[in-house]
Parts: sequence; structure tokens; C-alpha cells
Amino acid sequence: MKTENPFILSVYAGPQYFCDRKNETETVISALRNRRNISLISYRRLGKSGLIKHVFHQLQNEKSMKLFYVDILDTENLPGLISLLAKEIIGKVDHSTLRFLKKFGQVVKSLRPKISIDPMTGQPEIEISLQSDTTPETSLTEIFSYLKKQDKHIVIAFDEFQQITEYPEQNVEALLRKHIQQLTNTNFIFSGSKKHLLISMFSDYGKPFYQSSQLLNLEKIDTTTYMEFISGWFEKSYRTIDPAALELIVKYTQVHTFYVQYLCNRLYGLPFKTITAETVTGIMLKILEENEPVYHNYKVLLTGNQFRMMEAIAQEGGVLKPTSKEFISKYNLGTPSSVGTAMNALFKKEMIFKDENLIKVYDIFFSLWLARRNSFS
Ligand SMILES: Nc1ncnc2c1ncn2[C@@H]1O[C@H](COP(=O)(O)OP(=O)(O)OP(=O)(O)O)[C@@H](O)[C@H]1O
Ligand SMILES: [Mg+2]
Repeated sequence: MKTENPFILSVYAGPQYFCDRKNETETVISALRNRRNISLISYRRLGKSGLIKHVFHQLQNEKSMKLFYVDILDTENLPGLISLLAKEIIGKVDHSTLRFLKKFGQVVKSLRPKISIDPMTGQPEIEISLQSDTTPETSLTEIFSYLKKQDKHIVIAFDEFQQITEYPEQNVEALLRKHIQQLTNTNFIFSGSKKHLLISMFSDYGKPFYQSSQLLNLEKIDTTTYMEFISGWFEKSYRTIDPAALELIVKYTQVHTFYVQYLCNRLYGLPFKTITAETVTGIMLKILEENEPVYHNYKVLLTGNQFRMMEAIAQEGGVLKPTSKEFISKYNLGTPSSVGTAMNALFKKEMIFKDENLIKVYDIFFSLWLARRNSFS
């Protein structure tokens, strides 16, 4: 009866563990096949990276295509992006890569690849650094001219693309745009969670990326489809999950992908043959209890006003007009201006977000904890 947990919490593990996203997958593939760039936007943890991996999985056997995935979240500047991109293009070091490295090195002279052995795994690893006498612009030109020479359709996915706006260099958007426009055999997937930033980057007239790519706003997975996916996995291990239990999963997680996966992963790990509504509530309370140190830490990091504001938003389950008299007096939040200040700070810290005009707490489990008197009554 015991099988591996199918509710994956880390990266993409294969199509059987991936729920739905059929239309979105088709949209991305169709854009790429028709040589359009595509921007993937959604709130955090809804499944952007997973979707890119899923698309790449579908396309992996296409001989005419070459797929590269670069997550630039941890990069701090343009040289950082360039190194990551070059590293991804060169790939893991193996015999053919060494030959390839030579070819790559003939075109891309401004980068210095260094091969070392990873002390943990014993595997060869590649380090890329920019030559000190070169500029990032030169390296980019060289990398892109290397790509141009390939007689393949190249797809580069830049995950967490909004990170480029954090770089100290001022002209990154314009610089990338210049190169991207000149590449005829390469398409891009730009993906990110800072919705407003990305939308403005791609749709503000005057911004370098204006209208350069199709926008795909990733929504939540369809509730019924997700429920079927969940019960399907329990059935496969000869167990059942009650309809009331599924309803509660939907309620607690608001069908936000990561939270669904997490809760189901925990439920699947239980040694019960039947999952009831009580089981779901029990494990949900346990998760909140486990997370309590983190939540208490939030309390320390936020001002009193900000924390009260979080509690109020969580208890309401979302707020339309946070500066309204009713809301402020119901939760004793002070003045409209102090509410405004707290809100701005919370937006900046990504503790809250706007979901179709409703302001909500970003972390869904934290929101449950803040409103626990309402959530579990
Ligand atoms: N369609 C899916 N079916 C099942 N699990 C999924 C699906 N999409 C994503 N996941 C899982 O949900 C979690 C969050 O997904 P993912 O990391 O892709 O989101 P993201 O939008 O890229 O998040 P972030 O904004 O933090 O980068 C991951 O554990 C992932 O494996
Ligand atoms: Mg991601």
C-alpha cells in the first residue's frame, strides 16, 4: 500500500505528478512554435516554474529545438545573469560538452569557463567568470552571436525575470531588448511573480520590452480538476478521501497550488485508509502549530500597526476598502493615513497582495493562523 508521495513540493517531477495546465501548456508551446516570446505572470507559488518545466518536458524530444532554463532570482547584476546563461548553455560537463566548450570558447572569448570537481558529488562542475578586461555587453553580444549560429530553434526561459530591475546597471532592459530583437532563431519565456512590475515592463509604452511578447496570466488550477487529481492519487494507493475532506482542502488552501500540494503531501503521509474532514482539520492545525515560530517572528519584524492590519485582513478573508471608516473602526486601526502607511509597507514586504481588487494576506497558511478563531469555528 505504501507508495512514494505523489504530491511534489520541490521542482517538477514529471507529467504524472503535474495537475492539469493543459491549456496553458498549449498556449506556451503554440507561442514558441509560432516564434513568439511569451511572458508568464502569476502570484508566487502558483506554478510558473512548474509550467515551464512541464512545457520543456513536452518539447524535450524535439530535435530541432534547444531548450535553456535560467532562474535569475539569485543574480545581483548583469554579469551574474550572463554567467548563469553561459553555464546553462554549456550544460553539465561531459565528454561531448568538453568538445562543445572548445567551440563555444572560440566564439565567446570574453568568458572564462573553469572546470572543477564538486567536492560533495565528485562530479565535474563548470564555473564561468567574465574576463576582467571585458564588458557585460561584449559577453552578451558574443553569447547571442553564438546562439545565432546554431541551426536550431532556441528557447530560453528566464525565470524570475523581474530580478533584472534590481540590478545596479541602468540599461539592462534596453540592452537585452536590443539583442532579443536581432535573434531570429531564438524565443524567450519571461516568467515572474511581481505582476505590476512585469506587466509594466512589457506593456508600458516607451519601455524597451513594449509589446515584445504575448502575456499569459497564470490563474489557479480549476477546483474540480484539482479535486479529481487529489482523489485519483489516494485511490491509486487503495485509499479514499471523503468529499467533505476535499472541500476542506479547497477551503483551507484557496486552491493555491503550493498550499494544496503541501497539505495533500501531509495527508498522503498519514497511515489512514480513509481521509475524513476531521483528518484534514487535524493536520491543518498541526501545520499551523509547526509554523508558529515563523509566524511569531513575523510579529517581531512588523510594527504593531502592520500586524494588526494583517490580522484584520486575514479575519475578513480579504478587504476591498482598507481605509473605509467601517473597517478601521471594526478593527481599531487608527487613522486612514496610518492604515495607508501600514498597507504600503506590507505591500513592499510582499506580506499582502491584491487579488482582483481584494487585498489579501499573501501567505495562505499564515492567513489561516491569523484568523484561526474564524477559520476553525
Ligand atoms: N500543475 C501542478 N500540479 C502539481 N503541482 C504543481 C503544479 N504546478 C506547480 N506545482 C508545485 O507547486 C509548487 C509551487 O510551484 P512553482 O514553484 O512552479 O511556482 P512558482 O509560481 O514558480 O513559484 P515562485 O513564484 O515562488 O517561483 C511546487 O512545489 C510545484 O512542484
Ligand atoms: Mg518559480
